[in-house]
Amino acid sequence: MQRLLIDGGRRLEGEVPIHGAKNAVLPILAATLLGGRSTLYNCPALSDVDAAGKILAMLGCVLERQDDRITVDARDITYLDLPEQLMREMRSSILFLGAILARCGRACLSFPGGCELGARPIDLHIEGLRRLGASIVEEHGCLRCRIDGRFRGAEITLPFPSVGATENILLAAVTAEGRTTLHNAAREPEICDLADFLNACGGAVTVEGDRITVEGVEALHDGVHRVIPDRIEAATYLCAGAATGGELLLTGVCPRHLSAVLPMLEKAGCRIEAGENSIRLRAPARLAAVDSVKTMPYPGFPTDAQAPLMAALCTARGTSMFVENIFEARYKHVGELLRMGARIEVEGRVALVRGVEALSGANLCCTDLRGGAAMVIAALAAEGRSTLTGLRHIDRGYQDLEQGLCRVGAKISRER
Ligand code: EPZ
Repeated sequence: MQRLLIDGGRRLEGEVPIHGAKNAVLPILAATLLGGRSTLYNCPALSDVDAAGKILAMLGCVLERQDDRITVDARDITYLDLPEQLMREMRSSILFLGAILARCGRACLSFPGGCELGARPIDLHIEGLRRLGASIVEEHGCLRCRIDGRFRGAEITLPFPSVGATENILLAAVTAEGRTTLHNAAREPEICDLADFLNACGGAVTVEGDRITVEGVEALHDGVHRVIPDRIEAATYLCAGAATGGELLLTGVCPRHLSAVLPMLEKAGCRIEAGENSIRLRAPARLAAVDSVKTMPYPGFPTDAQAPLMAALCTARGTSMFVENIFEARYKHVGELLRMGARIEVEGRVALVRGVEALSGANLCCTDLRGGAAMVIAALAAEGRSTLTGLRHIDRGYQDLEQGLCRVGAKISRER
């Protein structure tokens, strides 16, 4: 079993190039099913991206990858039911539902099931696609879906700005008959990036805050697109720099996508300089606690940055309070941080983090993607050696994490 070996207590210092966004490239790969030939730049090398490519290939698409460029030829596809194993391997496979239905008129896939973050229901996805004309029957853990002809545009209001449901509805509406207006849509940058890709392929998608208007078109054509930077990878490195009293320069990043994260790091005592496509962070020897960190839909504080920031604040001066408003079980990483000497109390959606002088290295196991990143950050700040297993979680969402950290002075290696 692979594991990371991390010797903590070293300041991180140097430049970190940020990769393309996992949560943008995944829905865009699903969207390539609707077009002809798509060329995507700035694609990260991640196991989730490989899994999405596997689904496209199973449907008959021809994919090529060269460095950060992925080309998808979806001109000639053959329908098939997505295997349950694949759905379970990557729950965001549900993002393919709208695109497969729009392209093939039918789809049968198993419920993606819960994950480490909680139940992960898909009721908003199903309701939205039904509003657009799909018939969806849930039986024996599978979704049997059909659409006669094309989707038909509709007026939809989401009760919660679900990112995935917004994306699935977009993928169904873009080649529907007529107009779709989606209210209370998710406003994450990854939604705008998906809209930009669809428009590059001849779609007619207009995003105005939390309202998205889609004029359905007959079909999409070839498209070229550059995926936006990964704001959560950026937030993770910033928290690592903050946790080690370091100084990092992030390049190839979009500072305005971190508009809720940067102020938190400044409250913790870091100096932040944002350029056009760069962020410089200078951290104090010891962070100050942050009174309140409440996760919210974008543009609020991102739930994906909650665990990394918590890891950095474990050794802050004072007590920080976290409120996790997006997922009902996103504190799985706390147990591992406690093993390192952190003082954290969880009560429902609230976590109180009482800063300690220092954490000590321990043998750790990743609980989920961002929880795993939090453990790396805590281990970098801790005294002594830590080991970390369960790296499949990390490899889903971070490209070359240990290489990126080594380049800025971390003592971290992967034992195969
Ligand atoms: C996306 O997940 C991201 N994943 C998540 O990133 C991210 O944490 C999340 O958005 C919130 O920003 C991808 O983009 C692949 P949601 P998604 O639908 O689409 C409830 C990471 O670490 N809900 O906005 O699943 C749901 O239970 C991952 O990169 C319903 O109730 O998020 C949750 O409580 C983790 N019914 C809340 O909404 C539904 O039909 C947010 O879910 C759908 C969602």
